[in-house]
Amino acid sequence: MLRTKPLIAGNWKMNILPSEAVDLALRSSEGFDEQATELLICPPFTHLQALQAVLSKGISLGAQNCSHRLNGAFTGDISVEMLKDLGCKYAIIGHSERRAYYPQETSFIPQKLQCLNEYGMIPIYCCGEGLDSRNSGRHFDTVAHQLEQDLSSIEDDILKKMVIAYEPVWAIGTGKNASADQAQEMHLYIKKHLKDKRGIHLQSVIYGGSVNAANAAEFAQMPDINGVLVGGASLKPIEFTSIIAAFS
Ligand code: PGA
Repeated sequence: MLRTKPLIAGNWKMNILPSEAVDLALRSSEGFDEQATELLICPPFTHLQALQAVLSKGISLGAQNCSHRLNGAFTGDISVEMLKDLGCKYAIIGHSERRAYYPQETSFIPQKLQCLNEYGMIPIYCCGEGLDSRNSGRHFDTVAHQLEQDLSSIEDDILKKMVIAYEPVWAIGTGKNASADQAQEMHLYIKKHLKDKRGIHLQSVIYGGSVNAANAAEFAQMPDINGVLVGGASLKPIEFTSIIAAFS
């Protein structure tokens, strides 16, 4: 199977001011080679307008979430069409922070995937087990259950184009990353699961959870780790450029 260009995604979460966004994106992309990797910035919604300026540098833009409705009277929501109009190519869906803080999040995932498909945007669908599940050896079952629950109603054509981010909850923002072997094993499991259950050859499974300049090279060497979703380290340009370099 063709290996896709590694995707290096920075998830800024609820950090950085709109007025600081372009400077951070430019400093974070120094030395980045468009031929070798795809660089994606996922800022808060409010920063997307300003970040139009970096699209011409070959940097992709993504949202951290989107509405599960196409348009209409949904006060405070942001539609996929609006994101598309602002140059977004991707949207993160089902991040564990949203699943934890917003109880309805998980039930909206299928509708969000349909909305993204409607406008030709690529979902970065997040899954991953918690610490209890990992410690009791149930991590594969937990992830299989998430895939079944969230994706069983989604058509094959949509699934084929999606990026899956494997993000073990115990590794997010904790400084305790999964080892490259643990991540590789789960990525292979996810790909095999979708192949066996749905006949789908998934192109891209990326890893997220305490990725930094020191551990990026180990992830980059693994055959089924097709990139990374980086939180904390994406706010530190020197750290982030080293992560990009590790995948180049
Ligand atoms: P982290 O976050 O790199 O700070 O662990 C990753 C994520 O939540 O996507």
